[in-house]
Amino acid sequence: MILEAKDIQNNWVQFMANIDAHITGDRKRKLIGFYEKYQERIMLMPAAHKKEYHNAFPGGYVEHINRVVRCALKQYDLWSDEGADMTTFTKEELVFSAINHDLGKMGDENEESYIPQTDKWRKEKLGEDYMFNTKVPFASVPDRGLFLLQSHGIQYTFNEMLAIQTHDGLYDEGNKKYLFAFMPEQKPRTCLPFILHQADLMAARIEFEREWLPKLKGEKDSLDTKKSNFTLDANTKSTSSTKTKALNSIKSEGLKNMLDNL
Ligand SMILES: [Fe+2]
Repeated sequence: MILEAKDIQNNWVQFMANIDAHITGDRKRKLIGFYEKYQERIMLMPAAHKKEYHNAFPGGYVEHINRVVRCALKQYDLWSDEGADMTTFTKEELVFSAINHDLGKMGDENEESYIPQTDKWRKEKLGEDYMFNTKVPFASVPDRGLFLLQSHGIQYTFNEMLAIQTHDGLYDEGNKKYLFAFMPEQKPRTCLPFILHQADLMAARIEFEREWLPKLKGEKDSLDTKKSNFTLDANTKSTSSTKTKALNSIKSEGLKNMLDNL
């Protein structure tokens, strides 16, 4: 799948609007400052490095995050209607966790985690448009995301820490210590981590279906052969002057050749 430049831009505007609508206090200002600082990188990031995963295309990360926020808010209503104790967390905690659950995918302050694949064979045969950047030392996605938040002075609550840490549910064995407990006192005291996990699972599954079911059915239109025009529309409404910047003017070393390589 390939997103049009206009879609990438609109998704970014929605991403920032979610922060504006749901995050409060001093950390709202800090979070906006953080995402504006890394805007070029984050708005073009894929959500994964392999097509077999989900949203492994430019702009795929923000598109995924916006979907997780929408799904999380819908799951909130579902859990509430079915009688879950919604006093154990706030909607702000849910949206903050959804917005930042995959932040660790961006890499560190200087280097992207995913850079364009340089191995032609892996790109063509394995569908790997991206590869891991070996300049970035290993950390799990939740650990790196939480580190980035704290290193930029953005405070998070205990509930948010737990939700971000366990957002992959039991797909991550490391979460067993939180989610596989038999003793009631060791189980999470809030359903927030389960709502976020379900929202993330739902979003990733939908993104997989959109990418792969047409291909598996052999539909010709599903082949990504058409190059998109990645020049941003200067007339699109935006709250930030940099949002009108052309995508091909990005300064980031690891990303500036990406559009030609995909
Ligand atoms: Fe995710």
